[in-house]
Amino acid sequence: MSNRRLGRGVAVVGAGMSKFGAFPGLATRDLFVEAFQEMRASVDRGLDPRDIEALYIGNYSSDLFESQGHTAPIMADWVGLAPRPATRVEDACASSGVALREGILAIASGLYDVVLAGGIEKMTDLPTERVTDTLATAGDALYEIPAGFTFPGFYAAMATAYMARYGATPETFMQVGLKNHDNGSLNDKAQFGATLRQIMDRKIASARAKGRPVPNWADEMAFLHDDGANPVIAWPMRLFDCSPISDGAAALLLVAEELALSFTDEPLYVIGSGQASDVALHDRAELTTLRAARLAGQQAYDMAGVTPADIQVAEVHDCFTIAEIIATEDLDFFPPGEGRRAAEEGQTARTGPRPVNTSGGLKSKGHPVGASGAGQVVEIWKQLRGEAGERQVPGATLGLTHNVGGTGQTCVVHIFERRD
Ligand code: COA
Repeated sequence: MSNRRLGRGVAVVGAGMSKFGAFPGLATRDLFVEAFQEMRASVDRGLDPRDIEALYIGNYSSDLFESQGHTAPIMADWVGLAPRPATRVEDACASSGVALREGILAIASGLYDVVLAGGIEKMTDLPTERVTDTLATAGDALYEIPAGFTFPGFYAAMATAYMARYGATPETFMQVGLKNHDNGSLNDKAQFGATLRQIMDRKIASARAKGRPVPNWADEMAFLHDDGANPVIAWPMRLFDCSPISDGAAALLLVAEELALSFTDEPLYVIGSGQASDVALHDRAELTTLRAARLAGQQAYDMAGVTPADIQVAEVHDCFTIAEIIATEDLDFFPPGEGRRAAEEGQTARTGPRPVNTSGGLKSKGHPVGASGAGQVVEIWKQLRGEAGERQVPGATLGLTHNVGGTGQTCVVHIFERRD
């Protein structure tokens, strides 16, 4: 399986996303049009949409979230691309990471030269209980769901196993949330877009305005330990350890490598791609690592001919804070059990030696599940082209995305390079 190569090279020459958040009154098609228009505007030498030959759209569950199935042709229609072939890709929260891979493979096969890969999800029309039930269908309906598992519960199980094995504490996880809110405060597309300090200040101001008791948290950690402000969702995962319920869309323009420079002087070349699957969580011997992520990462590194140490910026799947720590170990950024120390020491901070989730990650940017994988690539696009503004990692030319479906039954990893 190792050292596989693409049949021909593929590059990303455009990337855009809608704002992530809660948008009552908008449907996925509206958000997708927004992402498409931003993607189109990002193509330096311009894009005639008629050149797009096929669409691959990641979407987990518009059927249950929006009572709308068969979403890919609708997206094609709304951006004026019918009758191009439009394929919906479903792999839970990895849907658009896998849609990207399908688009890459379609170009690498020689079938198409220009492909749109993207993702959509509109989750906020349902109440939280129904969103939780809908997300739970990405678990094993025979064994796990009847046992009472929800997604916060699954990741809480991984977190307690990780704590028992490596001595992490709830404070370890809190550091990840703190960092990602800090990064997200610099991202105008982020659902929260605020540091924890700013969120605390808002709550203090709101309590004052309403004549309620004014909280006096000493600092962010005191806020995070406050059961009222940061309630336990599934111990040890509290509110600020969870990604939110979100709406959003993202769109990427992929072209055959030989065409890339006719679209832009600064394409991102796809140099590595890997994907793997795994048994459901209840059947695993290990809860502190995702085998699919390890395999997908290894495939991507082997294809790219790079090592984990070469990656300068990474967007990893932090649906819960524990997931980011495990991801940094599965990708071999740190040895098993050391991801916690790296988080505690700030190594994964924007300004640290190993920047992770500069966008704010799913935690702060938001997690419209079917759009999240493509949204990760939008951040890498900005970072490698030097367009990430205040959250820019100076001089980054090699970036990675890691997108997980369910509890790791699917994982897809991509590596991108900007060449001077
Ligand atoms: N992090 C931080 N704050 C959050 C938040 C989150 N994940 N989710 C909601 N909030 C805030 C809201 O902004 C709101 O703040 P306000 O009172 O200052 O306005 C407050 O919490 C209540 O919001 P609400 O929407 O009522 O929260 P909720 O209790 O219905 O939902 C969770 C909270 C954690 C249950 C929900 O976000 C969730 O299920 N997250 C996990 C989603 C998931 O499993 N995704 C798939 C992963 S694989």
